[in-house]
Amino acid sequence: MEYYQSEIIFNQEIAPDIFLMEVTRNKEEIEPGQFFMLKTWRDELTLMRPISVYNVLPKQVQFMYRVAGKGTELLSNAKPGDAIQLLGPLGTGFPYKEVHGEIALLGGGIGIPPLFETAKKLKALNNKLTVYLGFKKELFAIDDFAGVADHLFIASEEGEEGYRGFITDLLRPEKFDAVFTCGPEVMMEKVWRMCKEKQVPVWLSMERRMACGIGACLGCNCDTIHGTVRACKEGPVFSGDVLVF
Ligand SMILES: Cc1cc2nc3c(=O)[nH]c(=O)nc-3n(C[C@H](O)[C@H](O)[C@H](O)COP(=O)(O)OP(=O)(O)OC[C@H]3O[C@@H](n4cnc5c(N)ncnc54)[C@H](O)[C@@H]3O)c2cc1C
Ligand code: FES
Repeated sequence: MEYYQSEIIFNQEIAPDIFLMEVTRNKEEIEPGQFFMLKTWRDELTLMRPISVYNVLPKQVQFMYRVAGKGTELLSNAKPGDAIQLLGPLGTGFPYKEVHGEIALLGGGIGIPPLFETAKKLKALNNKLTVYLGFKKELFAIDDFAGVADHLFIASEEGEEGYRGFITDLLRPEKFDAVFTCGPEVMMEKVWRMCKEKQVPVWLSMERRMACGIGACLGCNCDTIHGTVRACKEGPVFSGDVLVF
């Protein structure tokens, strides 16, 4: 884990309020499902914001984010050539080396980004990949996932494309050797219950508000069967066997 200054290569709006940002990076190993704390501003009172790794390239890393409030609004204003502070990679990612065979990735909304690097890594290890992406209305990242998935299912609650409804309606956990998921907690809880019922191993990436990202502030608690742990350090990815909803 390093703290360093990097440079923005591009920062484009790819769907309403959804941005794809590419920045230069150091040579650190980055695991899928890990995140960085990011900051483009000088104001010391506004904390760095946690954003997952979307796509790791040899000398760059890409982040995909939704403008949700002040921090992500400031990120969205950054221009190519601007400086950006990076702290990371942080947290425990998806255990892609521990699973084999038919793997399902299920993402909802802005929980989709951490699944792309995960999909690339799983594919490189010759797994069969089925990707389920759920949206409220506007789709994004579809072409990237189409390039790596063996099967791709899309659902949107209000949009015109794909299945009309919740992406969890399409999931059949019993077809898979493992399921990885990230998205709204209510969606992940449903996936967790469906997988438990069919005794399929599932890993979930839990989102919490994170002030420090490095395990120091104890502000990102998650309940597990082993007690309360830090989402930024022991997570954000947890096995469904230990999480408590
Ligand atoms: C490990 C991790 C990885 C993440 N990866 C991504 C990513 O790849 N792309 C992305 O768009 N977002 C991601 N997020 C969420 C992102 O960090 C928040 O949206 C961002 O910090 C909001 O900051 P803000 O200043 O823009 O909004 P704020 O003004 O701080 O908040 C705006 C609204 O968003 C809510 N909010 C803020 N932070 C969170 C949070 N962590 N979880 C749930 N609700 C929150 C607030 O309650 C408020 O309603 C991730 C969060 C975590 C913890
Ligand atoms: S964000 Fe500070 S301990 Fe997790």
